[in-house]
Amino acid sequence: MKIAILPGDGIGPEIVAEAVRVLRALELPLEMETAPVGGAAYEAHGHPLPESTLKLAQAADAVLFGAVGDWKYDKLERPLRPEQAILGLRKHLGLFANLRPAICYPQLTHASSLKPELVAGLDILIVRELTGDIYFGQPRGRRTAPDGAFAGAPEAFDTMRYSRPEIERIAHVAFQAARKRGKKVTSVDKANVLETFQFWKDVVTEVHAQYPDVQLEHMYVDNAAMQLVKAPKAFDVIVTGNMFGDILSDEAAMLTGSIGMLPSASLDANNKGLYEPSHGSAPDIAGKGVANPLATILSAAMMLRYSLAQPEAADRIERAVQAVLAAGLRTGDIWSEGTTRVGTREMGDAVVAAITGKTITKS
Ligand code: IPM
Ligand code: MG
Repeated sequence: MKIAILPGDGIGPEIVAEAVRVLRALELPLEMETAPVGGAAYEAHGHPLPESTLKLAQAADAVLFGAVGDWKYDKLERPLRPEQAILGLRKHLGLFANLRPAICYPQLTHASSLKPELVAGLDILIVRELTGDIYFGQPRGRRTAPDGAFAGAPEAFDTMRYSRPEIERIAHVAFQAARKRGKKVTSVDKANVLETFQFWKDVVTEVHAQYPDVQLEHMYVDNAAMQLVKAPKAFDVIVTGNMFGDILSDEAAMLTGSIGMLPSASLDANNKGLYEPSHGSAPDIAGKGVANPLATILSAAMMLRYSLAQPEAADRIERAVQAVLAAGLRTGDIWSEGTTRVGTREMGDAVVAAITGKTITKS
């Protein structure tokens, strides 16, 4: 099993290093090869997604990704910015299905900004379409406004669009995921205003006919944003487009109070995937050894489950993470009174120890 390891920028290298140690501790026949991506790749090769990195990712069975981005690259022209690497990987690898679980761990209920009773036991899965919508729609750009009240003025524009097959395939992913969980899908749209999302709603409704055992509800995106902070436990699986999914998945992650804990998977039609933590590159704490590696470690578990057909190894990692939390170990982002604050490396050590059966030390 070949894994491309793309650590990226900011805290990426630190957290990915711990996930790699955890993977090694499993003693599976995993072949891991590392390549630069994002700002790190721009520094080394003049491009955020060099040909060599893309080739490695294409040849691998799965990709473990850290994070990309740093304010210092904000002034680069758009095609050279670190974020283009992740967008390029999604497009070139056809990673259309982004699974973002938002789970509130019992030990971390107090870390949420919502009242504990609203989030205790929270377990939502956001299924975000990842290769269509306004993110990739053409044409886009700048021009002189051709008509309207501001004709002649400089303007910028993007194109929101979805084709039927794109909506169908992501709807299938959502309904199939719901079947294995709470059997409810909330399709989030803006059908009251946008053609694209009236079409989305129509197609999701059609696909639903094949899943009579799953309940489907439709919700406008503004209401969904509100319901997520009002009664988040009413959701099971949320399926939505690329841009709404970008926004709602950050909101949902924050409900859990621990974005540092949340993994994500981006899958193609054959379950090849890219796995990354839901948080970003956090340049402000990079290199300090304080970042939480658990989201990346849990992303490695998702990788074993979805792309490498190693569900037992995935379980071992997830049980080890539960064990270190139960033992009271916390990085700064999830620390609270009465628990033991540890750094990135110590957290990785503890997970490795839990996997290999050695005792966890609370130093
Ligand atoms: C995400 C990120 C990306 C996105 C950026 C970095 C391009 O916010 O994965 O949610 O907008 O998809
Ligand atoms: Mg985002």
